[in-house]
Amino acid sequence: MATPSEAFRRPELEAYWLPFTPNRQFKSSPRLLERAAGMYYWTADGRQILDGVAGLWCVNAGHGRREITAAVAAQLETMDYAPPFQMGHTSAFRLANELARIAPAGLDHVFFTNSGSESVDTALKIALAYHRTRGDATRTRLIGRERAYHGVGFGGISVGGIAANRRMWSGALLPAVDHLRDTHDPARNAFTRGQPSHGAELADELERLVALHDAASIAAVIVEPIAGSTGVLIPPRGYLERLRKICDRHGILLIFDEVITGFGRTGAPFAAQEFGVTPDLMTLAKGLTNGCVPMGAVLVSHAVHDAFMHGPEGIELFHGYTYSAHPVACAAALAALGVYEREGLLTRARTLAPHWEQAAHALRGLPHVLDVRNYGLIAAVELAALPGKPGARGFDVYLRCFERGVLVRQTADTIALSPPLSIERAQIDLLFETLSAVLRG
Ligand SMILES: Cc1ncc(COP(=O)(O)O)c(C=O)c1O
Repeated sequence: MATPSEAFRRPELEAYWLPFTPNRQFKSSPRLLERAAGMYYWTADGRQILDGVAGLWCVNAGHGRREITAAVAAQLETMDYAPPFQMGHTSAFRLANELARIAPAGLDHVFFTNSGSESVDTALKIALAYHRTRGDATRTRLIGRERAYHGVGFGGISVGGIAANRRMWSGALLPAVDHLRDTHDPARNAFTRGQPSHGAELADELERLVALHDAASIAAVIVEPIAGSTGVLIPPRGYLERLRKICDRHGILLIFDEVITGFGRTGAPFAAQEFGVTPDLMTLAKGLTNGCVPMGAVLVSHAVHDAFMHGPEGIELFHGYTYSAHPVACAAALAALGVYEREGLLTRARTLAPHWEQAAHALRGLPHVLDVRNYGLIAAVELAALPGKPGARGFDVYLRCFERGVLVRQTADTIALSPPLSIERAQIDLLFETLSAVLRG
């Protein structure tokens, strides 16, 4: 009898254009997932796969959580949709209050979106509108960072720093953008456990850009506290603190993109709390609903929100989405937050981090391993590229882990790991033992 994946041959695979995927390679050898529960996926041909990346950094409480499923089903039965413009529904207000309660002090207003990309573009728009609302209309420049990933909207790729994500659209990016240098410094920081000691001074790059462009032209700086998609770059000690100080000195808003670091990934609810630095705006998505319904949010400081509320009467921000604060997404998020809090998942990474770190750094010395870095329940293993074939070794390792029943994430030649925060120690061991076996080859 044909397995489901055998039944699904080339013609059936053709219409779907997969995102961020080599489609021709994939369709010649597809990996089809069919079912998920707890820490595992099952493929269409029945193999069990340990989820080492929480889906895509989002299923923080593990798969198939009944509390969330039940809340979503109940919401669909009660009210499937509610228009968000000029209307509200109670779950939206409850969720905003819950988020403000667990957020860093001062981030007490919430604008809802449907993804990380929309959250980033929303945050950038709020930052620009904030200055204009206050009569500071010359502040139109946005500062991002090299190697940053902020999603795929035009705002996000403009402030983002991944060349491949920008190249095709280079003539259409936002005009007034500049970039800080990234903080990756393997020569000084390779095999650091936790925050690297070298590199706080890279924040002074912002002073250089202020001198170049003039502070009065700069609206906001956006950074991921830990850059995820570009290979897990942990902020050097003192770096984020220094960025905050420079922003304050020059009236520049600081935006943290916490799409992957939010909801317990670092050991605190948000990386801002973990690193003790509070931004003016914070972008969220992914773990907000445990990944099960698309939803994003921008947390906004009291001061930024207040500036809009002192403007002229009427609509304060001409921005929003048909599915902002979708009732089903709100129900999923409220239920996910309930699970996170009841099970201590917003801080569980802190408890597991020593074991995680030990297991990750045991890979040091294995063939091709140039660096291992980690924070909370995040780790990256950077591998030497095959000569003339950047990314090929990383992809091969990713495929061979999958064949051995473990899902990892590959970006170029770096393997990233970020499992559900509900992972057990034995599963952590299995994750790294599998990677180790693949590297030993
Ligand atoms: C830091 C960061 N920002 C934004 C995004 C984009 O989120 P989405 O894919 O939901 O648009 C991502 C996705 O990985 C991310 O890691």
